[in-house]
Amino acid sequence: MELTRTADLWWKTAVVYCLDVETFSDSNGDGHGDFRGLAQRIDYLDRLGVTCLWLMPFYPSPDRDDGYDITDFYGVDPRLGTLGDFVEFLRTARDRGIRVIADLVVNHTSDRHPWFQSARSSRESPYRDWYVWQDEPPPGADKGIVFPDKEKSIWTYDERAGQYYLHRFYKHQPDLNVANPAVRDEIARVMGFWLELGLSGFRVDGVPFLLETQGSPDAELLPDPHDYLADLRAFLSRRCGDAVLLGEVNLPYPDTMRFFGNAEGVGDELTMCFDFVGMQRMYLALARSDAGPLAAALRERPQPPRDGHWGTFVRNHDELTLDKLTESERKEVFDAFGPAPEMQLYGRGLRRRVPTMFGGDPRRIRLVYSLLYSLPGTPVLFYGEEIGMAEDLRAEGRLAVRTPMQWAPIRNGGFSTADPRQLPGPIPNGHYGPKQVNVSAQERDPDSLLSWIRRLIERYRECPELAWGRYTVLDTGVPSVLAHRCDIDGTVIALHNLADSDAEPRLSLDPGSVLTDLLHDEHTTVPDNGTVSLRLGPYGCRWLRLSQPAG
Ligand code: GLC
Repeated sequence: MELTRTADLWWKTAVVYCLDVETFSDSNGDGHGDFRGLAQRIDYLDRLGVTCLWLMPFYPSPDRDDGYDITDFYGVDPRLGTLGDFVEFLRTARDRGIRVIADLVVNHTSDRHPWFQSARSSRESPYRDWYVWQDEPPPGADKGIVFPDKEKSIWTYDERAGQYYLHRFYKHQPDLNVANPAVRDEIARVMGFWLELGLSGFRVDGVPFLLETQGSPDAELLPDPHDYLADLRAFLSRRCGDAVLLGEVNLPYPDTMRFFGNAEGVGDELTMCFDFVGMQRMYLALARSDAGPLAAALRERPQPPRDGHWGTFVRNHDELTLDKLTESERKEVFDAFGPAPEMQLYGRGLRRRVPTMFGGDPRRIRLVYSLLYSLPGTPVLFYGEEIGMAEDLRAEGRLAVRTPMQWAPIRNGGFSTADPRQLPGPIPNGHYGPKQVNVSAQERDPDSLLSWIRRLIERYRECPELAWGRYTVLDTGVPSVLAHRCDIDGTVIALHNLADSDAEPRLSLDPGSVLTDLLHDEHTTVPDNGTVSLRLGPYGCRWLRLSQPAG
């Protein structure tokens, strides 16, 4: 396939890497990661093959939800640096060909945001209607609570305001009223501001909640929330033609599809949606050593509109949610990958990272990342995954997977020279601590996980068919093996064995065609009867390019 096609729709073959500036690299020894520290690490990310960085919130914040509670949408948290540092970092990233997107968290603000402070002070405040108020909590206030360990309702009474306000998340995060045109204008202004500074788009936080207008007295002003999302996308595209919206939409496939928008076959809302369903079915498949649940998800997964794409991931910054599995399926995954109560969260997810979930088995860990980079969709890696960092269960809730980046086998893992008590989170000790798991050792070791991930990223970039092709799940006669092929001009086939035993999957292909192994130096010719048997070791994987014999 012609590579020039991949430049316009860059997101389809992007290598996305998510990080929190606060936990990545501290340049001034105050215990907090910062933009200067991150800028110094750009070449590491470039060598890894990253083409797009997703920055978690870096805006001023009281930090009661790790920065997802914002008090100023136009600034940089002083602990992380200045706006000047941000621009210098961005320029350095772009120089290496790395685009940067950032979290856009506009479903809510912090309750300390000046808008909310003004809104609650009087019914006459110009900001009163920027939030959603009611005299009595509407029915169903105890439904749909995102953080059930901390909240009992999505409506909380504010003494000063004399009314209840809506908050989908924590009570210190009042929801903005997007039905109010002034709020919509402000959200566009925020996006415009960061685009002007050079961002290539946004990861949009909690999209279904953002669009929700229930409980808002202005709801009738917003005829269809999806029109609003389409307006935002149009605004984004006018300001910056190749910018993207990558949305957090954790809903069943048919509902998620609506968020791509579909004006005459072309997506006009979110550019990408995370594939939460596929991720959960992958863990179920891995727990059962049976490719079935994942194969079914891939077969079921709708095709996004023309320019849209799925975003794939195996771990993100939140709990590893299993909310789309049935009760008994979720129990299977809990039993396999996080049986102890302290490993679980909100009754629906896990607060562990990949290596510990797989008991440190390098074969299984490598298999998971081979799936990530070969399954159709844009792979999104969460910082530290590439070296096999683990969680630290001493940290509270979701923070267990957000510990500082482990650069070297030295104090604080080389993240910071500060006193360990000043760091944003604990540094894991023992088997997964920086002495055993760190960048500097793995960079020099061709057999390290880091080297494996780099190799996968290289191959993934060499095989745009994986992203652009029409994919088909193949029948191999072996239940533990997932095989899929991607076709567009060329063909790439990937096979993954989810079981701890040898497998010999069979594929039906054109006689005489040649399979070139992209991870090992091997060729196989399809015999005359058109059935080729391939070997996979326990938890083995293979990526194969199919070509016709020369002549
Ligand atoms: C999203 C984020 C999560 C955050 C929440 C509230 O779900 O992924 O980390 O706590 O929104 O902003």
